[in-house]
Amino acid sequence: MLKTHNCGELRAAHIGQTVTLAGWVNRRRDMGGVIFVDLRDRDGKTQVVMDSGRSQAAFDTGDAVRPEYVVQVTGVVSPRPAGQENPNMPTGAIELLADHVVVLNAAKTPPFVIDRDDEVEERLRLKYRYLDLRRDRLQRNLIIRHRAIKFIRDFLDARGFLEIETPILFKSTPEGARDYLVPSRVHPGKFYALPQSPQQLKQLLMVAGIERYFQIARCFRDEDQRADRQPEFTQLDMEMSFIERDDILDLVEELMLGMVKEVSLVPLAAEQFARISYREAMERFGTDRPDMRYGLELVDLSDIAGASAFKVFAENVAAGRPVKAICVPGCGSYSRKQITELEEIAKEAGAKGLAWMALDPDSGEMRGFITKFFTVEQLIAITERLAARPGDLLLFASDERLIVYNVLGSLREEMGRRLGYKDQKVLRFVWVIDFPLFEEVMEEGHYAPSHHMFTAPKRAHIPLLDSDPHAVLSEQYDLVCNGFEVAGGSIRIHERALQRKIMELIGFSIEKAQDQFGHMLEAFEYGAPPHGGIAPGIDRLVALMTGEPNIREVMAFPKSQQAADLMADAPSTVEQRQLDDLHIALALPQK
Ligand code: AMO
Repeated sequence: MLKTHNCGELRAAHIGQTVTLAGWVNRRRDMGGVIFVDLRDRDGKTQVVMDSGRSQAAFDTGDAVRPEYVVQVTGVVSPRPAGQENPNMPTGAIELLADHVVVLNAAKTPPFVIDRDDEVEERLRLKYRYLDLRRDRLQRNLIIRHRAIKFIRDFLDARGFLEIETPILFKSTPEGARDYLVPSRVHPGKFYALPQSPQQLKQLLMVAGIERYFQIARCFRDEDQRADRQPEFTQLDMEMSFIERDDILDLVEELMLGMVKEVSLVPLAAEQFARISYREAMERFGTDRPDMRYGLELVDLSDIAGASAFKVFAENVAAGRPVKAICVPGCGSYSRKQITELEEIAKEAGAKGLAWMALDPDSGEMRGFITKFFTVEQLIAITERLAARPGDLLLFASDERLIVYNVLGSLREEMGRRLGYKDQKVLRFVWVIDFPLFEEVMEEGHYAPSHHMFTAPKRAHIPLLDSDPHAVLSEQYDLVCNGFEVAGGSIRIHERALQRKIMELIGFSIEKAQDQFGHMLEAFEYGAPPHGGIAPGIDRLVALMTGEPNIREVMAFPKSQQAADLMADAPSTVEQRQLDDLHIALALPQK
């Protein structure tokens, strides 16, 4: 080894020892005749003193080094002079008096200062990711990610799970995104698909009698990027045989509680793991991934508003479309301009406009264009139902049910952010269960699976597949934390006939089903056990546990918003010869 100790390791107990450190020059200060260098490695920092009175050669080398030079120092550990100790630094009681300094490598001036935590443009950070990763914040995040994965492996190993790798070159396993395709040289005109998840493979492992499987699995999805989405990301993929829904929920709760306690920088909220139905989530929060750290719940006012003289509400309610509202505390003196901003958000979510009422902070009197269409009794009933107080702002939505959810769900998010509710540094998990098997909106005349096509309907609802498929509830469950979906899973179909039926409903002809999923259907004929599973998203969980605003901060080499690797410049063009090998001709879009 080129070093005897790490840079974060030396303490008063080492005083008097001769040690060798190696690392990067974090900071260098020239005090005239004495140079102070903070030497940094992954473990921490140590102050090195290069004193010309002690070693002229060490001083001269120290004089030549610059930030990010790689340096090896041999010297004696000494107490810092009285009054110069740094209690903020773990090694702040000591310093290393250098006798011998070797420059292991020089460094160009980095494009941003490694040592300072200031904001650097993200494109620059991604282009020089290897320098960005030297910074404390990302080193910390990678360490927490490592610990989380280690915790998961130990936890599942202790419970009889086997970690099994599944192929990356596979066949399309649809999770609702576009596939990344890999052309085959050996089979001209044919393609592998990178797995959107190992869904089929883990089910086949259940048919294979593995019973308890997991994998820290890389998944690939060609979809629009967001703060919580990357084209390749990592799941803790799990599957179990002879299991029921609540066994899986209980196991995952235990795993999450243990992991958060052991590795998270953000603590758990006191209340955890409520189980609410999809319907309840939509009715109360307007979304199936509710942030439970705050209220601002949606309240149904259809009965009161439908009886009012406000035509839009009355007509909607008569036609079976609800009126719902949220009560936002303390925003009753919002200006016209502020309300217009909220109206824009409502419109983006599908509303035609935004109806509102405000309670005067002093008199409690109601203002807002629509109030005149309500009787005093109706206004009182509304404030009572919403538990509104003077100074509050009431935001209404009335439309098709899904639009109402979307509009008030978006406004609830926005107001939660504005009021600082989203800044609360706690993790609050909630299960959303009892999803409908199919999305309410059809896709090209077919039913679209709410989760994926392998999810089982509730046993008692199977007859409804013939009469009213939209009424069928499934064995799907999602785990949500602070408004992010952190895991999704389900009990699966394990019978061929039922699987075929679902495929038919979602528009797969017999030929197409056979072509794409023939291996699954066939496997189900050889004694497939009842089984189910789940896949927590590791990136999202680690981002939540480190308090990061997006998952790029917890991945070593993430892609940009445009799905590009800015460091290696990927994707990139390839040589004609490579295309020829793959029998590919390009037909590029006109510029
Ligand atoms: P699902 O599609 O719900 O389920 O994905 C499971 C979890 O993976 C995470 N996730 C993502 N994270 C980052 N970037 C993305 N683009 C991305 N997409 C999904 C989320 C999500 O909850 N095979 C099923 C699981 C199962 O049924 O067992 C599946 O993949 O945290």
